Amino acid sequence: MQSSSTFVPDGSRYDDMRYRRLGTSGLLLPEISLGLWQNFGDDGPVDRHRAIITHAFDRGVTHFDLANNYGVPAGSAESNFGAVLRGDLRHHRDELIISSKAGYRMWPGPYGEWGSRKYLTASLDQSLKRLGVDYVDIFYSHRPDPDTPLEETVGALADIVARGKALYVGVSNYDARRTEEAIKLLRDLRVPLAVHQPRYSMLDRGPEEGLLDVLGANGVGCVGFSPLAQGLLTSRYLDGTPSGSRMARGETLKPGVMNDTLLETLRGLDAVARERGQTLAQTALSWALRDRRVTSLIVGASSVEQFDDSLAALRGPSFTAEELARVDGLLSRVAGMNL
Ligand SMILES: NC(=O)c1ccc[n+]([C@@H]2O[C@H](COP(=O)([O-])OP(=O)(O)OC[C@H]3O[C@@H](n4cnc5c(N)ncnc54)[C@H](OP(=O)(O)O)[C@@H]3O)[C@@H](O)[C@H]2O)c1
Repeated sequence: MQSSSTFVPDGSRYDDMRYRRLGTSGLLLPEISLGLWQNFGDDGPVDRHRAIITHAFDRGVTHFDLANNYGVPAGSAESNFGAVLRGDLRHHRDELIISSKAGYRMWPGPYGEWGSRKYLTASLDQSLKRLGVDYVDIFYSHRPDPDTPLEETVGALADIVARGKALYVGVSNYDARRTEEAIKLLRDLRVPLAVHQPRYSMLDRGPEEGLLDVLGANGVGCVGFSPLAQGLLTSRYLDGTPSGSRMARGETLKPGVMNDTLLETLRGLDAVARERGQTLAQTALSWALRDRRVTSLIVGASSVEQFDDSLAALRGPSFTAEELARVDGLLSRVAGMNL
């Protein structure tokens, strides 16, 4: 199927997307990126992977976020993205920003997770093979390792850049203090920390408590993940739990997180969204993009229609001070849930 692809990308694909600079780097990223954590493994239909990825590309989404362990089984999201890359997108590698990460358990034994030089180097080599590329554009340390010296983890990242296997490096899920240390260590190695990937949404405002200040002050981009709180910040759960939804599967979004306070809050946010002429998903994304230190949001989708709903956020109005105050008031009721 791949080599016989007749996909012809939309010639106007760059007309409507907005791009923001990743910190003070030379790299521009689309304000909305596509994440392949869920829905792109071997447990889903190949045609759906292809449809969502090529549709995203057609709409100016140049940035695709992966990790070694994404997909069921782990690694299959990279393999499936690699198949689309060799097929539909085979003439477009230079128009794409492909991210991968290593940090969570990927293979058995003491070298299959965390932040050692051994693990990061071997994992990236495996990712490159699955993706079928010579280099990734961004490579992340996926989570801080409490037992490996930070010097070793960031030293491995710097060497990966020196060997041409990644163009930019980042960290994900690091707190503000450890991020500041990583920035300093990498500066000494003359490889800038280009990006941090924290979870950021209306339901997890953690990055506002110091991390965004560190990133802004040091010219590091912020790429926020799960900006829809895995679907909670959409219309998906306003009237129950539909079958086939992430909460119905109950693996990464447990039904137990929903309670009356959260549901009332989501309905209140939905009312704000309607008044703005948006869906709840669009308002959640517009809200997270209101801070210019946030370069891009990595959104997930299980259908083209969902992703289109998210992309339409970019055509929405900016927030008035009154709307922001209303949102703050609503969110104060669920502060600390950190979903
Ligand atoms: N660095 C890290 O540690 C880390 C961790 C997690 C994620 N990430 C990255 O962030 C990406 C996004 O994470 P995420 O998938 O949790 O993001 P998300 O955008 O918060 O949630 C995506 C899910 O929300 C639902 N959804 C999306 N648009 C919708 C719409 N218009 N209407 C109704 N439901 C809608 C879908 O759920 P259904 O499946 O129910 O349809 C979709 O799969 C990942 O793919 C990954 O690249 C990184």
